Amino acid sequence: MKIANSLVDEFDKFSVNYTEDMMRCVPYYQTLLSSFVTTLPSGFRPKRVLDLGCGNGNVTAQLLQTFPESYFELLDASLEMIDLCKNRFEGYNINYYTTFFNDFEFSDNTYDMVVAGFSLHHCEAADKQTLYKKIYTSLKPGGVFGYTDLMIDRTKPEHETLLQDWKHFVLQNYPDEDKWEWLMEHYAAYDQPESLETILPWLKDAGFMNIEPFIHDRYWVYVKAIK
Ligand SMILES: C[S@@+](CC[C@H](N)C(=O)[O-])C[C@H]1O[C@@H](n2cnc3c(N)ncnc32)[C@H](O)[C@@H]1O
Repeated sequence: MKIANSLVDEFDKFSVNYTEDMMRCVPYYQTLLSSFVTTLPSGFRPKRVLDLGCGNGNVTAQLLQTFPESYFELLDASLEMIDLCKNRFEGYNINYYTTFFNDFEFSDNTYDMVVAGFSLHHCEAADKQTLYKKIYTSLKPGGVFGYTDLMIDRTKPEHETLLQDWKHFVLQNYPDEDKWEWLMEHYAAYDQPESLETILPWLKDAGFMNIEPFIHDRYWVYVKAIK
């Protein structure tokens, strides 16, 4: 619970300058956000969408541009993030849940689309696998799971390459090292990424058949998985 509470504190604080920090610290952030819409099957129009770890709403904002009439459910453990979404999306058909993934009651065959942007890497491996199953069950047949994250195995030598490339990117945007140092503290304390090679079989085990990854620079990945 200690880690869970400090994760909430961390994201309450992170919410203040969230989008700018993400744009300047996460390579391909805008491209990956766009993928939630650009990779959808042709003619697909989700009526009901669940956004897991919505943050300040950047994934939902993409979808709302194209599907303003859809009904959204936004879930996040951080109240500050949820409040930002409430202000940002006033007037849209949205319900909010300030809760942890593990405490949320997913209902079966409910959603046309479930989305998760840079949120599931905060979960432990076993929780990720459980969540993929819950997400699969909560989707309607033909429903889409859209999922973007840093996907890497921290124990493999390529992790060092990622860190070098990532640091280069961040220092271009924040030339003094303060932001990079903060980012690495956050990464060490709260992030538990897995490689795409690890995640793909877990998604298959959950039931997903049609799984398509879109990979940028090896580790920055959008995955579309269809029920
Ligand atoms: C890096 S932000 C991503 C926000 C947004 N989806 C995006 O793509 O920019 C991760 C969000 O997930 C939330 N989060 C992380 N772990 C969570 C958990 N176990 N339950 C609920 N929310 C969680 C955090 O509070 C944070 O707002």
